Amino acid sequence: DEKAEESSDLDSSSDDEDEDEVNNTLEVGKEMQTSSPCQKTEEEQKVMEEQQKSKQDGQCEKTFAEPNKPLSQPAVFIPVDRSPEIQEARLKLPILSEEQIIMEAVRENPFVVICGETGSGKTTQVPQFLYEAGYASGDGIIGITEPRRVAAVNMSHRVAKEMNLSTRVVSYQIRYEGNVTDETKIKFMTDGVLLKEIQKDFLLQKYSVIIIDEAHERSVYTDILIGLLSRIIPLRNKKGMPMKLLVMSATLRVEDFTENQKLFRTPPPVIKVDARQFPVTVHFNKRTPLEDYTGEAFHKTCKIHRMLPPGGILVFLTGQLEVHTLCKRLRKAFPFRKGNPKAGEDEEADSSEAMRKFKKSKRKKTVSLPQIDLNNYSVLPVDEGDEDREAGIGDEEDEGSDLDIGDDPLDAEETADPSIPLYVLPLYSLLAPEQQAKVFRPPPPGTRLCVVATNVAETSLTIPGIKYVVDCGRVKKRFYDRVTGVSSFKVTWTSQASANQRAGRAGRTEPGHCYRLYSSAVFGDFSLFSEAEITRRPVEDLVLQMKDLNIDKVVNFPFPTSPSAEALVAAEQLLVSLGALKEPPRTGRVKEMQQARLSCPITPLGRAMASFPVAPRYAKMLALGKQQDCLPYVIAVVAAMTVREIFEDFDRPAQNEDESSKLTQRRARLTHMRRLWAGQGASLLLGDLMVMLGAVGACEFAGCTPRFCEDNGLRYKAMVEIRKLRGQLTNAVNAVCPEVGVFVDPKMAPPTEHQVVCLRQIVLAGLGDHLARRVQTEDLVDPKWKNGYKTPLMDEPVFIHPSSALFKKLPDFIVYQEIMETSKMYMKGVSAVEAEWVPQLLPQYCHFGSPLDEPSPWFCSSTGTIRCHRPSTFFCVSWQLPAVEKE
Ligand code: CDP
Ligand code: MG
Repeated sequence: DEKAEESSDLDSSSDDEDEDEVNNTLEVGKEMQTSSPCQKTEEEQKVMEEQQKSKQDGQCEKTFAEPNKPLSQPAVFIPVDRSPEIQEARLKLPILSEEQIIMEAVRENPFVVICGETGSGKTTQVPQFLYEAGYASGDGIIGITEPRRVAAVNMSHRVAKEMNLSTRVVSYQIRYEGNVTDETKIKFMTDGVLLKEIQKDFLLQKYSVIIIDEAHERSVYTDILIGLLSRIIPLRNKKGMPMKLLVMSATLRVEDFTENQKLFRTPPPVIKVDARQFPVTVHFNKRTPLEDYTGEAFHKTCKIHRMLPPGGILVFLTGQLEVHTLCKRLRKAFPFRKGNPKAGEDEEADSSEAMRKFKKSKRKKTVSLPQIDLNNYSVLPVDEGDEDREAGIGDEEDEGSDLDIGDDPLDAEETADPSIPLYVLPLYSLLAPEQQAKVFRPPPPGTRLCVVATNVAETSLTIPGIKYVVDCGRVKKRFYDRVTGVSSFKVTWTSQASANQRAGRAGRTEPGHCYRLYSSAVFGDFSLFSEAEITRRPVEDLVLQMKDLNIDKVVNFPFPTSPSAEALVAAEQLLVSLGALKEPPRTGRVKEMQQARLSCPITPLGRAMASFPVAPRYAKMLALGKQQDCLPYVIAVVAAMTVREIFEDFDRPAQNEDESSKLTQRRARLTHMRRLWAGQGASLLLGDLMVMLGAVGACEFAGCTPRFCEDNGLRYKAMVEIRKLRGQLTNAVNAVCPEVGVFVDPKMAPPTEHQVVCLRQIVLAGLGDHLARRVQTEDLVDPKWKNGYKTPLMDEPVFIHPSSALFKKLPDFIVYQEIMETSKMYMKGVSAVEAEWVPQLLPQYCHFGSPLDEPSPWFCSSTGTIRCHRPSTFFCVSWQLPAVEKE
């Protein structure tokens, strides 16, 4: 077996070459020789054939393999006892015919890229190939990362079932939960979880293979993992503990990985899996509805159901709310009695009683105001973090598309039986797992399946039996302003690649049709691909994680796509002001300063902050939270701020009068509850964070039941998530620093006034760059500033959101959690702060001196003065962060 030997020889003799200053600690190991994966010697062929045969016969013996053995060794085979039905279904998957080629490429190369259409079997089969080839039979296990929690949980169950193994062996780990055991051999996890593991063990010694799945989504964590693994794998090889990396993508657009010299000096082999894609006929609308595409989707779906032959319908909309609205309308139009049971309304809860108890304990007033100590940090724990993604980003390739534009069967005569019920199911990533699982089961006999989904159905999950796709052509995405960090959710046109992925869902089992609710001219204007997420969002959390891995020069990191220099500088600046990174020296030339600013080392506080699965601003709050026994409250508030939207949204348009009055009632109830939770006096000044704290406290008092949430306008799912996160943060603090002794108290008493003041200060310390000052009436130059606030970075006024507890109060100084741009720039998560706290808690944002230096009225200039209430202390808040010098 000359070829294999030659290649392994080359491996061991190739020289080490240090990559030019990638960073201080990540060494670059030797490059592995890449050879064509497809050439096989006769002998190998024979081995493979025998393997295949014995596999089919199911009579091979269990042998223990050493993974990554040179090819000359006969490959081992760990038998799997699959049921005949599963075996039959597997054999139909296109990826099965590529097994040999894939396994050979994996044996010969440290990095392999596999591209295959959604549904070709990548996620479910490749881990099985590796398992059978012995990659989990030694010390290491097989790890697979998914950008979405939905996929990690779902796929682990699926693979366990296919392999007839228990979930103790094929397991999953996501941010809040998992079922990993000592017996685990195949572990599905979110990409965030693996990133956290790298922090604990840079060499990832418990894995023999890492599969990065759904790489085309270009999620931030996935991108970073590929960058890190491109360094970890050569290191492992160097240390004689070889590891493999497989990158799997639903599209062929993988140049960012394969042709990126910073990542892999020798391009890894790309194995293409030809999917059996049946032709999909695409039908464009003549006109493009600009507003009511949900209504348009409704009409199209009804028409398909009434007129076209059997086959599932998959509708793509942009968000949860739209999905529910359409589901409701469809169910009403085509009633189906047995399905769609209501969510559990099992537990009784006396909400008013719980509320009363929570509000009850009024403590005695304290006169002297406490002051938190900025240097008093808790010791912080290590735990997993991940973020589920509602709006995935498709970076897809339109290669080999089978899309025709052809006759529309809807123009023809009716062929369907209109009396058939429609079995309508919603699908989005925040949906409860049991509900999600329904889409994979066959619909009840005599019904037609109709799944109304967000773009999670685009590539992560394959729904069987879909023949018709209805595509609204839009996607909901979060946009951030690079400078100000203002974010907004916008529904925008998707990319051509995504639209084609969606269409492709119709041709999995037989020829299908895709109805696009927009014209071909509009489609022509779509961008070809969507941008990688990393280029579109702030990166302070990633920068901190990377610094914690001792990657000081993040700017040199081998990202598949780099974030902008601006975003990196902004991130380092924020982290420096939070105290997570060391301040760069202020002297030196511009160029040196710039360099220094992009390579600040991490501080001990930064390490502590990095170990929390929350964003750096919140991590800072946790780090300060121990004081005055505030930690349980800080944990609860941070958990609540981290979870997406804890209150129900009753502002949605009502379907009918009945619903309209119900919505009005529930809105009123929620407004009432918010006022109760916000409290009076001291607690009201904590503002929206007090409302969140009150909601969490009250909900826990009531035992966190669906009933309590429903009655009081809280999202049950969010409350459960908060509960889990509280537990996780609490355990973590205790594990690392037992003397803190914090525990999750379900019957947490409200904070004392004393503690509320501390909480406000802690919040200010974390959200210091989100400080805003009310524009005084006498300063008004323009009516648009009425009730407006000025922030350091924005020239435009920002406003307190009408739903805020402080909307009417209009404190002089506030901090906000985020600014969302809707009809105006609205601050959400607002909390009042005292001006005199600013120089004490945020000295980094102030410069001290005579106010005469800064004579201009601050709200319309870029700098501003706050007169401190203390005698003879003046300070200026630098309302403009230093500009980035251009090269
Ligand atoms: O990863 P990729 O998109 O290439 O395919 P996959 O997720 O491995 O799915 C392969 C096949 O398994 C598809 O035809 C799915 O419909 C099926 N599958 C299923 O029936 N039930 C699941 N829970 C997951 C997958
Ligand atoms: Mg997949």
